[in-house]
Amino acid sequence: MPRYPHRTVKSLVETVAQTIGVGADRVWLGCGSTEILHLAVLAFTSADRALVAGAPTLRIRSARRRGLGGGLSKSRWMRASSRPRRDRPAGCRAGLVFLCNPNNPTGTVIGAATIADFVGRVIKASPETIILLDEAYHEYVDESAYATAIPLAMQHRQVVVSRTFSKVFGWRG
Ligand SMILES: Cc1ncc(COP(=O)(O)O)c(C=O)c1O
Repeated sequence: MPRYPHRTVKSLVETVAQTIGVGADRVWLGCGSTEILHLAVLAFTSADRALVAGAPTLRIRSARRRGLGGGLSKSRWMRASSRPRRDRPAGCRAGLVFLCNPNNPTGTVIGAATIADFVGRVIKASPETIILLDEAYHEYVDESAYATAIPLAMQHRQVVVSRTFSKVFGWRG
């Protein structure tokens, strides 16, 4: 018998969906969130659709292989997004904006209102850009201004949130 995981994956997807309060059709599992980040780079970036990320942040290895440096800092992106159309830099046609919250390696936590504002600005300036919010360290945050961006992902087709079992759930004792 082949040992494909289809049956168990279905119940895992349903459990995850129920836990985070979304439909099962909105959940995609990867081999670690690394795979999800990798697929996002492959799907949404190209030579003329840049990866935009703050610095320093998690390095997505596939992005380096594709020569997508990104490197436009979040604050520059935010300023760039509010400029008049003719004056906008190439980053405004980005394929993928990667925002790690809490950020690795700085531990910086961005509050929910700021994230919502940022997402709104990016979508307004560049509606085809996908915004990937990496919440690998979500479970460790105790700042009251922070909240998951999952509701934003339910609201906007451009928003993807990644989570992982490998951090707070990864301890084997
Ligand atoms: C912020 C962040 N996102 C994603 C990952 C990838 O984790 P995993 O592939 O184990 O889900 C890591 C790994 O350290 C990380 O620090």
